[in-house]
Amino acid sequence: MKRVWHGLTVASSKIKNKHMATALITGASSGIGMELARVHAATGGDLVLVARNKSKLEELKLEFETSCSVKVLVIEKDLSLPNAALEVYNELNSKNVSIDYLINNAGFGDFGFFAESDWLKNEQMIHLNITTLTQFTQLFLRDMLKRGSGKIMNVASVAAFLPGPLMAVYFATKAYVLSFSEAVDNEVRSKGVSITVLCPGATESAFKVAAAAENSRLFKGRKLASSKEVAIYGYRAMLQGKSVAIHGVMNFIMANSVRFTPRKLVTKLVRMMQSKV
Ligand SMILES: NC(=O)c1ccc[n+]([C@@H]2O[C@H](COP(=O)([O-])OP(=O)(O)OC[C@H]3O[C@@H](n4cnc5c(N)ncnc54)[C@H](OP(=O)(O)O)[C@@H]3O)[C@@H](O)[C@H]2O)c1
Repeated sequence: MKRVWHGLTVASSKIKNKHMATALITGASSGIGMELARVHAATGGDLVLVARNKSKLEELKLEFETSCSVKVLVIEKDLSLPNAALEVYNELNSKNVSIDYLINNAGFGDFGFFAESDWLKNEQMIHLNITTLTQFTQLFLRDMLKRGSGKIMNVASVAAFLPGPLMAVYFATKAYVLSFSEAVDNEVRSKGVSITVLCPGATESAFKVAAAAENSRLFKGRKLASSKEVAIYGYRAMLQGKSVAIHGVMNFIMANSVRFTPRKLVTKLVRMMQSKV
């Protein structure tokens, strides 16, 4: 049986014949994560949805269980806290839920000069964007390696390729996600597990408001990619086992051209792009 979801034709029978994949998606209550959950549900796969907004996750659970006949487990968790990933992992083990696709999507940014930024916010961002993602990857990767199969998708950004004045910590966290994901993918690829790092450009979601970046040139007055198209692109790339997936032709050109551009100039250009309109 084939299902069509926002232009993505998903051969759900193919997945069903092999083994019905269960996906864990962090940050599934909004934006790209919510659309990734929709795409996965449309394939007939079960889901574990993790975020802080429990009522939104419960709403999605009802939507997917009703329209896609899949099982959905909701875990309300602040992933910026120490050991949050371990707590989720232990909860799933106690319920005998095994994860075939791990999608580390939760993340946030913060706009402004680093010297004036709130330390607590920086710490939470580093914990969520880096530490939790790394711990989730290690915990589920070990199980996937034992089974000899599994897919992981880590959501970075085109920011991963650039130094980011006015969002210095956020850009640096995404550089970590890119570097870490490529390195571990190299270690495990021959063992049946792939790690895909998704690099979206500016995307329509709650991100720009959470980051207080709505008035930066990057977001204001521009036609942004939709969360749906980014999710469909990323999900396909994960299924194909692509290692680095940069969404959008212009983003692809930018991410690659910076390698041949003096770094000082790149940093100045990013500063211009990030400045308020
Ligand atoms: N939008 C863009 O322009 C853009 C571009 C490149 C990369 N990205 C990346 O794409 C990913 C998804 O972002 P988005 O654009 O979809 O933004 P979004 O709409 O703001 O979604 C962010 C998700 O992360 C979750 N989250 C945030 N803090 C959390 C915490 N402490 N604990 C648990 N979950 C938390 C949120 O859920 P709760 O609030 O319910 O916890 C929400 O589901 C992020 O990693 C982001 O860095 C976004």
